[in-house]
Amino acid sequence: MTPCLRGRCYSRGVKIIRTIEQMRAAAREVRRAGKRLGFVPTMGALHAGHMALVRAARSQADAVCVSIFVNPTQFGPKEDLSKYPRPFEKDCELLAAEKVDFLFYPDVAEMYPAGAITWVEVAGMSERLDGKSRPGHFRGVTTIVSKLFHAVEPDVAFFGQKDAAQAAIIRRMARDLDLDTRIVICPTVREPDGLALSSRNIFLSPQERKRAVVLSRALNRIQFHADKGERRAAELLRIGAGVMAEEPEIKLDYFEIVNNDTLEPVEDVSAGALVAVAAFVGTTRLIDNLVLFGGRQASGPETKA
Ligand code: PAF
Repeated sequence: MTPCLRGRCYSRGVKIIRTIEQMRAAAREVRRAGKRLGFVPTMGALHAGHMALVRAARSQADAVCVSIFVNPTQFGPKEDLSKYPRPFEKDCELLAAEKVDFLFYPDVAEMYPAGAITWVEVAGMSERLDGKSRPGHFRGVTTIVSKLFHAVEPDVAFFGQKDAAQAAIIRRMARDLDLDTRIVICPTVREPDGLALSSRNIFLSPQERKRAVVLSRALNRIQFHADKGERRAAELLRIGAGVMAEEPEIKLDYFEIVNNDTLEPVEDVSAGALVAVAAFVGTTRLIDNLVLFGGRQASGPETKA
């Protein structure tokens, strides 16, 4: 990375902004020019799923900002914060190839001033699904996403359907706080064999990588039976759990069928539902999901929160 000039640096042609003040100034300059700013918040270790979000942003906005910030408050005390991959130069190459306008790359001290005690929490939703097995995780996510939104002030922000609970919680936060940012949820990007792309997939051994496909296989089986007429959530879950059992080494964390807006369990999927699964493949925790029948789908077009 070349040296910074008043908080602004460049790497492989991407403008890197390290402070909230500089980020806000750059974003306001974009809007003063009458342009719309699209935003893709990430924790780095970028893959094709992130790049799909960047392209969606490019297609719906005039300028694109990506953030890379490995947010410590969304990791539990026993989780992999220090192990989280940080291939910064490679990330910059990928962003440069997509001609991203700004990379917001703050450090922890910039995002969490000493003594900060304020949180943003979507109470009632943040304890569900991943929030149950990762207490405090979603409070960390909604707090940092709000703070990033305050710095970037985007017109539209893009998140992946792969993190379905996160997507639902952020949509709800945007609605409840009257945020002036439109939330767009983009479809999950998958490997040819069905495995959902995730920055954590690099932790899988070759054998674990093969086993991991069972998550999408279980979801596909549920889709198959739902398409054939099964509407009972308990029966669909029984079918999904049966497929997961084909890989006894994999430890199921949760397998649930919930309302895609509230994350509350549903008994019947006729009105639409989110089928969500999380499992430990070795020590790596993977998640995946499927939206059934008119439950809010990941959208190419706009999803107003
Ligand atoms: O999905 C992620 O990568 C993170 O949870 C997010 C939204 C960037 C917040 O840290």
